[in-house]
Amino acid sequence: MCGIVGAVAQRDVAEILVEGLKRLEYRGYDSAGVAIVDSASNLTRIRRLGKVQELADTVDSAHVVGGTGIAHTRWATHGEPSEINAHPHVSGDISVVHNGIIENHEQLRDTLTERGYQFVSQTDTEVIAHLVEWELRSAPSLLVAVQSAVKQLEGAYGTVVMDRNDPSRLVVARSGSPIVIGFGVGENFLASDQLALLNVTRRFMYLEEGDVAEVTRRDVTVFNSLGEHVERKITESKLEHDAADKGNYRHYMQKEVFEQPTALINTMEGRITADSVITDAIGVKAAYILAKTEHIQIVACGTSYNAGMIARYWFEAIAGISCDVEIASEFRYRKFVTRPNSLLITLSQSGETADTLAALRLAKEKGYMAAMTICNVAGSSLVRESDFAFMTRAGVEVGVASTKAFTTQLISLLMLVTALGKERGTIDKVREQEIVSAMHALPNQIEQALSFEKEIEALAEDFADKHHTLFLGRGEFYPVAMEASLKLKEISYIHAEAYAAGELKHGPLALIDADMPVVVVAPSNDLLEKLKSNIEEVRARGGLLYVFADEEAGFEADDTMKIITMPHVSDITAPIYYTVPMQLLSYYVALIKGTDVDQPRNLAKSVTVE
Ligand code: AGP
Ligand code: GLU
Repeated sequence: MCGIVGAVAQRDVAEILVEGLKRLEYRGYDSAGVAIVDSASNLTRIRRLGKVQELADTVDSAHVVGGTGIAHTRWATHGEPSEINAHPHVSGDISVVHNGIIENHEQLRDTLTERGYQFVSQTDTEVIAHLVEWELRSAPSLLVAVQSAVKQLEGAYGTVVMDRNDPSRLVVARSGSPIVIGFGVGENFLASDQLALLNVTRRFMYLEEGDVAEVTRRDVTVFNSLGEHVERKITESKLEHDAADKGNYRHYMQKEVFEQPTALINTMEGRITADSVITDAIGVKAAYILAKTEHIQIVACGTSYNAGMIARYWFEAIAGISCDVEIASEFRYRKFVTRPNSLLITLSQSGETADTLAALRLAKEKGYMAAMTICNVAGSSLVRESDFAFMTRAGVEVGVASTKAFTTQLISLLMLVTALGKERGTIDKVREQEIVSAMHALPNQIEQALSFEKEIEALAEDFADKHHTLFLGRGEFYPVAMEASLKLKEISYIHAEAYAAGELKHGPLALIDADMPVVVVAPSNDLLEKLKSNIEEVRARGGLLYVFADEEAGFEADDTMKIITMPHVSDITAPIYYTVPMQLLSYYVALIKGTDVDQPRNLAKSVTVE
């Protein structure tokens, strides 16, 4: 789930490992640790609860030497966050770090206890350490011991094993949690994400599901799940070194909100002309598949799911194609009916979300015509396992609260909707021009929306002492409200809910009082009059309203209603545009509350466990 870094080198690797962990901090974690072996087989293990910096300080003052090591940031799934439960876990001479969950850990724990092993932590991970230690007693090499051990594991793992008696190698295995190997000169590295290693190398190789690899200073040897020797492709990373720097911003989230105009431009680049969407840019196979598509099934989690919910309105209204959207954790365990000629679309920033990945794998068995992913991370599992991928080019998103990944997903979806509509004959040339010109105008409009920062910052004062907030919208602005409420709860810890405004009278109206701010997304569209009635329902019950309204919508502020007047934009791109002030609102509320904006409590950036 969280971060892994490993190195086999001649030089001391402590600093590289800790730097790697720092680069993975954005994923969210609760504790961190390293284990390093020197050439005389001395093992140093240091683990700390809390921030990587605390580990870094201890490692620094301990002057840890050694060229082979493994490091980990943990996001606890089994056993509380504590130093004892932090990785690496040790059994005899074996040290192990692990991302993921071992589902049969109880059974293995019983067997290993019978064999005389004593468990010191409550983690599922510790079984891997003992299991490898046990296997190594009869195996000819660490590699073979790990191969035998992983065959007994059920669940998901990216794991790295180190034997203090043989500091010349690390053995790494992947099943359900990503592992990338980084090639240096006379030294090699590995990590759960290439970002961790960008300061030491740009040459990477991704392990595939079931792979076990032996990494020495000079060689990397990979075996597939059948134990056959295999070659995996080495690629050169184009990621920016300092993509993970905050620059002048106070938080990554703030930086990423402000990067949205550029991220949108990058995502559209080469994919639209002045007046049309280039269907081929959707993917080599796209035109052929889109021509046959009769139904869209979107599967995603969290913010990506909210993007799917907005896209559903577009697929049906603009392209005239039926579309269902489902949360991946539900989809994967539901007995569903696959409609003929359905295209499955997964949406994901990370491309590693376990539930979404499981849904993709399931869909393959369930007769979907093809599976497409809209994803922000090249080389991620979703990208590799889908029939075709459309990359959002948001750049590295570090803040746990997703912002630019969301808006670039939306613009990608809009391009797809347009391509599909053209293919189906539901969008003519004039309509296409209208959509594409709205797309071209969007980055500047987002710049404008960002200029409301000060106004929104002042508004945030009203929310910081509240315990609840309600967000309302209609049509495709209902999921905009859903995303706004998710942002607010994630980073400010204020309970927030989103409702389709027309649903208020069916229950939530009972909640309205002066302690429950109600935020309304009010573009000037054909539902405006309906929305105004809903606003009156709130006013009549003494509610306090904050309306983000189109300048043409005709709202007037008074004691119970504050208006944030937004310049008019096209109906088509308005959901993307209105998202931005909502992001700023949650950011400033969180700032006043003093929460950990980039790494909110209890959350992780990339949820690679169920
Ligand atoms: C977004 O702010 C959240 N942290 C979370 O809901 C996220 O969108 C979700 O976990 C899905 O992640 P993915 O896009 O990487 O698949
Ligand atoms: N399941 C393991 C634990 O709780 C690993 C969690 C992780 O991926 O960080 O220790």
